[in-house]
Amino acid sequence: MGLNNYYDYFAFGYMLGTMCLGIYLLYIAYYYLLKIDANRKFNFLTMYSKNDKLPVTLKSTDIQLAENCKEFSETTRQISDFNDKNFFKWLAGIIDGDGNFDVRNINSADPAPLRGRGPKLVLKAIRIKLHNRDIRILNRIQNTLHIGRIRSDNNKPYSIWIISKKEEMLFLINNINGLIRLKVPGLKKSCDYLGIDYIEADYNIQANDPYLSGLVDTDGSIVFNYTGNRIECNLEFEHNEYTSKLNLNNVIPNYKPSVVFRESRNTIAFRYQNVKEMVFLYDYFMKNRLYSDFKFYRVSKIKGFILIRSYKNDPKDSLEFKKYSDFVLDWIQYKNPIWHKVTFIDKIR
Ligand SMILES: *[C@@H]1O[C@H](CO)[C@@H](O)[C@H](O)[C@H]1NC(C)=O
Repeated sequence: MGLNNYYDYFAFGYMLGTMCLGIYLLYIAYYYLLKIDANRKFNFLTMYSKNDKLPVTLKSTDIQLAENCKEFSETTRQISDFNDKNFFKWLAGIIDGDGNFDVRNINSADPAPLRGRGPKLVLKAIRIKLHNRDIRILNRIQNTLHIGRIRSDNNKPYSIWIISKKEEMLFLINNINGLIRLKVPGLKKSCDYLGIDYIEADYNIQANDPYLSGLVDTDGSIVFNYTGNRIECNLEFEHNEYTSKLNLNNVIPNYKPSVVFRESRNTIAFRYQNVKEMVFLYDYFMKNRLYSDFKFYRVSKIKGFILIRSYKNDPKDSLEFKKYSDFVLDWIQYKNPIWHKVTFIDKIR
């Protein structure tokens, strides 16, 4: 194209101008698109970190994946629910009961890669192993955290929730650090491995803290004491430096357990065994429900029991005694395959 001609020159200038304008407009559009995208990510991040809600290791690729997903808003909602502090307090109780930090000494297996440097211990996995009767507890954990998997073999009476990815273990440990009272050696080693500072928990469990609920879900028992004519809650542990620090005096308002040491078996037991205070046991577990279905069923019956417990001493052919025996039978039969072996069964049937 020649530029001698004025019109040609004009036409060229016009074209150049249009092209520049076009590029400029494209540039602006692109800039704003990027900016909006960046803001969205930014909002997403701050939204979670404000409430401690972002798994610390969530990478931007994960966020993009989440954004691409059409159930994004649903996912967002679920993530924001799960990080509720109370959930992790309960989970710490579950882990102190039946959790396991699988920390292994890598040197014994393969000394070469780590010789002379770095950590010697490796956190392979974190597991929670429960009887199949209590699978609901494992489902709650998985459905709330959306991490891990539940392994359940056909011929085994138990199932296991397991996480083994480093980001997932980092996320879990960051959230239960400062809440674990019993599985301390495992937690400490896990913290070392992941480069986290271990935080010691307060052993004086605060009023209505869900930690006790998690501990009872796993290690506790809700029993019917026929002689004492009451519903009890008992916990028994190996007596060690951690269990001896556990202070459960304040967790159930108005109800202190008795603490019983047995030298011969090296155990420490916490026993809630008072008739008048049964109702406080009920109140606590209504606030902090158990996810062990049969234990929750048992504890939920306490109020009904208070109404009929004095019928125990009525004549065997009376309506009162029938109410009493019906209650106790139902109570011990619920999800209990060995209810017929209960010692007092012939006294109520
Ligand atoms: C049941 O209660 C009686 C009477 O209070 C008590 O002596 C007994 O130790 C209790 N049984 C168990 C298994 O705790």
